[in-house]
Amino acid sequence: MTDTVLVVDFGAQYARLIARRVREAHVYSEIVPSTISIEEIRARQPKGLIFSGGPKSVYATPAPTIDLGVYELGIPILGLCYGAQLIATQLGGTVLRTGNGEYGRTGLTLTAPSPLCIDWPTSSEVWMSHGDAITDVPPGFVATATSAGAPVAAMHDADRRIFGVQFHPEVVHTERGSEVFERFLLDACGCLPSWTHVSIIEQQVDAVRAQVGTERVLCALSGGVDSAVAAALVHKAIGDQLTCVFVDTGLMRAGEADQVEDTFRRQFKIDLVHVKAADRYFSALEGVTDPERKRKIIGELFIRIFEEVARDLGAGEGDGTGAGPKYLVQGTLYPDVIESGSDTAANIKSHHNVGGLPDDLSFDLVEPLRLLFKDEVRAVGEELGLPHDIVWRQPFPGPGLGVRIIGEVTPERAEILRNADAIVVEEIRRAGLYRELWQSFAVLPAVRTVGVMGDGRTYAYPIVIRAVTSDDAMTADWARLPYDLIERMSSRIINEVEGVNRVALDVTSKPPGTIEWE
Ligand code: XMP
Repeated sequence: MTDTVLVVDFGAQYARLIARRVREAHVYSEIVPSTISIEEIRARQPKGLIFSGGPKSVYATPAPTIDLGVYELGIPILGLCYGAQLIATQLGGTVLRTGNGEYGRTGLTLTAPSPLCIDWPTSSEVWMSHGDAITDVPPGFVATATSAGAPVAAMHDADRRIFGVQFHPEVVHTERGSEVFERFLLDACGCLPSWTHVSIIEQQVDAVRAQVGTERVLCALSGGVDSAVAAALVHKAIGDQLTCVFVDTGLMRAGEADQVEDTFRRQFKIDLVHVKAADRYFSALEGVTDPERKRKIIGELFIRIFEEVARDLGAGEGDGTGAGPKYLVQGTLYPDVIESGSDTAANIKSHHNVGGLPDDLSFDLVEPLRLLFKDEVRAVGEELGLPHDIVWRQPFPGPGLGVRIIGEVTPERAEILRNADAIVVEEIRRAGLYRELWQSFAVLPAVRTVGVMGDGRTYAYPIVIRAVTSDDAMTADWARLPYDLIERMSSRIINEVEGVNRVALDVTSKPPGTIEWE
């Protein structure tokens, strides 16, 4: 069994980051709520527990807390920020509102040897974010570091293997933060660093085989990284029991359908059903300009086509009840799993399910990526031999170019946008910026403007270039692209894309704008 460390979430925006840092140290981690019971912790047999930071003061009512029994389990504990203050409070130390909060980069001074900060210089830079501070350690603990606003910036009880730091080792601004995790995980918890891309693949291959046995399995490919990696992984597990379905809506990016064919049919020799449905999409979208109606039409048609394919393959009424495929692969990732636990997050996301499949399809789900973060999915994809282009592809909305064509979606307008988009992507790649940007693409507005080309007046569409940086798409900033790159994109789009006579740049961050235009 893989060694597991549980990250107890006290409402911090950092819990996810902590879990990722632990995995970067090659130890498997999962996020659990602070309401977790002692029995459940014991049942999971973690090798260690990490208490996250949190937005509350330990004196707030109610302040998130944890069952005191956790300290009797004999499992090593590391508390970060609020987590450290909670340990101090629960075990008999003192936390005070000193009026001396620290926010941002802070100097840390080591005052005694700490098992988490081995060979550190006396002074180093860490990242802090706290109002309260630990002023006295609990009995059995020693204080090992201090800062201007934190009398006790690090403490531990070596016998009970309980540690606390006031700073945030999970953020990159803490110079040697990753070492804090390594020392805790490898030395204090005795974890084996065995969570690697190879081991992830082996485990998931075994799990998929155990789940589906000899049954047939369906997988809808979108052209994006998640469904591609999920399909490749399931194929490695069960070979030709897997059938993939790719619906070409006519709203894909340039070259996307060919690439799916090349990769899955020719390279991986996967049984691929390629449905060329552009005509059906364009006729369903004829005359439709309302963004929400467009999404709905695109999503519903996808489901209908998928059900038709499933039925053709013998899956009963397209729902897995016949003799054909009983299982459906979904590229659900760990952040989706965490988020679906929270109502507000679930609401924000709901409109993003377009292009996915409805819950009432009665296939059983195979979700080989549900434990993985995006960067792990990419690494697994590379390990499985998927092309870089797919593995490092920027996110693309389910409804495709449909939400980037403002106004009516016609084959002609889709072609204009696809050609302009291909130039944007090509130039961004050539400039070496593709991976750095969260998304970079072209948008086709519903207006036409006057221009002059050669000797004649033109009346044609503008193209808007949208390029953003972001960590999670919840917020985004417009990318400061070099002028010469913008110039190259602009002149190429106008010269090479028929029907375009003007190029504009979107300089709106999110909020107030969204990343997509519809
Ligand atoms: P917005 O436009 O809301 O987009 O700032 C945030 C992120 O979500 C993507 N997006 C979608 N993804 N189906 C999807 O699968 C959708 O309907 C959809 N709408 C937006 C968008 O590309 C960005 O990454």
